[in-house]
Amino acid sequence: GPTVQRERMALANMSQQPIGVFDSGIGGLTVLKELLARLPNETFVYFGDTARVPYGNKSADTVRRFSSENVKLLLERGVKMVVVACNTATADALPQLVSEFTLPIIGVIQPGVRAALAATRNDKIGVIGTSGTIRSMAYQNAILAVKPDARVTSKACPLFVPLVEEGWTDTPVTRLVVEEYLKGYKNLGIDTLVLGCTHYPLLKPVIASLLGDGVTLVDSAVEISREVAVVLDQHKLASKGPGGRFDIILSDTSPTFAEIASRFLGRRAPEIELVSVR
Ligand code: DGL
Repeated sequence: GPTVQRERMALANMSQQPIGVFDSGIGGLTVLKELLARLPNETFVYFGDTARVPYGNKSADTVRRFSSENVKLLLERGVKMVVVACNTATADALPQLVSEFTLPIIGVIQPGVRAALAATRNDKIGVIGTSGTIRSMAYQNAILAVKPDARVTSKACPLFVPLVEEGWTDTPVTRLVVEEYLKGYKNLGIDTLVLGCTHYPLLKPVIASLLGDGVTLVDSAVEISREVAVVLDQHKLASKGPGGRFDIILSDTSPTFAEIASRFLGRRAPEIELVSVR
């Protein structure tokens, strides 16, 4: 009947709307990069809360408040779904966001957990992230909910974020810091390590060379892209294209933004738009 017809038309229009992505800052551009590569028909609005970054050492309450404000900002841009690219925001705020808003919202933790469980052979899994992510135990709980016998060893690596932002992804200092944080894993026999932070994919080569071939590194940026495709299909929200466009909105800017952003994005960052968050 006419109602069904109208709903179909509304959905058809929604499917042409952009996907919203937010992060505490610009690290989430690693997630946008994967989304652009894997969902070529989609357009995106990326919001980086650079005025309030980092989230990784803030309280869960504060991260929840900021995250909710970020979703509202994206809603004003007419997004059809929201991807929480920030591991800390996913860890602290995803359940609240899902109950607060009606549009589909997904975060990086479940996809990372699924990939880790698919990769591990001995059920010994390491998880690294910001202090906030590790404190929340979100990864650990999600893994144990599926595999209660798994052995999960978590480690906060707060110095990784500033090293990556400085562009020090492969210096002697970086190797020392990585070694210092991860040396405990060498004797634990883990076969899988979840890189539970937006910035860590840039440290993959150094981490891989320290831990060796026997440890699979799970990149949540790659994993969430698959999940977005599934959710778009489920909600009949997949765009038929043309895609590939994206806007970047930030709550603060800095002289080094363009350089750092292009490193995360793997290409030149476009013009940015500045907004203030409330
Ligand atoms: N985006 C954050 C995360 O993935 C890292 C940076 C921060 O601490 O805000 O946890």
